[in-house]
Amino acid sequence: MTAHLIDGKAFATALRERLTGEIASLKAAHGFTPGLAVVLVGEDPASQVYVRNKGRETLAAGMASFEFKKPAEISEAELLALVETLNRDPAVHGILVQLPLPGHIRTDRVLAAIDPAKDVDGFHVINAGLLATGGPGLVPCTPLGCQMLLRDYLGDLSGLEAVIVGRSNIVGKPMAQLLLGDNCTVTIAHSKSRDLPAICRRADILVAAVGRPEMIRGDWIKPGATVIDVGINRIPAAEGKTKLVGDVAFSEAVDVAGAITPVPGGVGPMTIACLLANTLTAARRSRGLD
Ligand code: GUN
Repeated sequence: MTAHLIDGKAFATALRERLTGEIASLKAAHGFTPGLAVVLVGEDPASQVYVRNKGRETLAAGMASFEFKKPAEISEAELLALVETLNRDPAVHGILVQLPLPGHIRTDRVLAAIDPAKDVDGFHVINAGLLATGGPGLVPCTPLGCQMLLRDYLGDLSGLEAVIVGRSNIVGKPMAQLLLGDNCTVTIAHSKSRDLPAICRRADILVAAVGRPEMIRGDWIKPGATVIDVGINRIPAAEGKTKLVGDVAFSEAVDVAGAITPVPGGVGPMTIACLLANTLTAARRSRGLD
């Protein structure tokens, strides 16, 4: 059996097109432009690429993009002051502070300083709490994108066994909340889980978000399962080059799973599309439109 490939790139393109239309309608009807501020501290190459792509896609969708690039030596107090300025700026509806931050800055302090109504990453404890209690918060982009792909491919998720490998605040925990909300039976597994392969083999939906290249093998997957691979790992390849692989051993999994997201081209493109969706949501709500 060869698994169906879930095309996140195509889904993200269609979502961005829909959002672009909605943003144009919002501008025409209400005369304001949603704005996203992205803060990058330091020169981490991967973060620089993400931030550049976010800025480009924000503008392409018809929104305003504000970029703040700060040296790695910026003090925590200066960064908090910048966040406060953005909280007060009426042209800014979404604020994203790119992670990771340098070690001398307390990430939890910075995330807690962002106005929850502008927290388009959904990382603030208020938004995490709203997600856990079923309230109308802003939801972290990557799990939101995974949920959209699962709903699109599987339809009703009620009653399915979902196993999430990884317990981060960014992916694993919010993913569990979203799938619980969709009536799945949810297990969160992690590196300390006993007999991880057996846990994974129970899954109708397997979400891999551990950050370990190709850790999940083909024989960990139940035949016909839907596999969502959140991993983006750069590993050495032939001739001194590198390549991107997920957390799932794709060439093995593709023979067992019913459907799988490829890396690249699966979950990755959904993250920025969902960031745009969250920014539009935050902008609408700032005017009482949602
Ligand atoms: N670094 C890697 N992924 C993310 C993300 O989704 N949001 C932020 N703010 N930083 C990240």
